[in-house]
Amino acid sequence: MATTITVCETCKCAGWNAETTPKTDGETLAELIEAAAGDVDDVSVRRHACLMGCDFACNIAVQSNGKLNYVLGKFSPTTLDAESIVAYAKLHANSEKGQVPYREWPQAIKGHFRARLPVLDND
Ligand code: FES
Repeated sequence: MATTITVCETCKCAGWNAETTPKTDGETLAELIEAAAGDVDDVSVRRHACLMGCDFACNIAVQSNGKLNYVLGKFSPTTLDAESIVAYAKLHANSEKGQVPYREWPQAIKGHFRARLPVLDND
């Protein structure tokens, strides 16, 4: 089952300055994630405004029907974070129920989980 990465495109990390930075940190992270996910099977990317975790920018969600879903935050708009998010999403897509063993998590994912959401009964 495919996994979708939802990227908050309005996130701004501490110190973001609209006068010196034309894009939000969320927009930059979204571009990097989209590039990293370009050729990856079973992982798609979409953007959304404010995931209501603004104090923990940059925020993303990892979602798939019938699986555990996750909200992660405190990312930076860097290639390392983007590639690690995509690598985790691929592991999530390959998992049966959305549980990826901790030993398989990319290092840059660790410490970023904000919430785990159980499967809806009608999924
Ligand atoms: S602006 Fe990204 S969570 Fe609110």
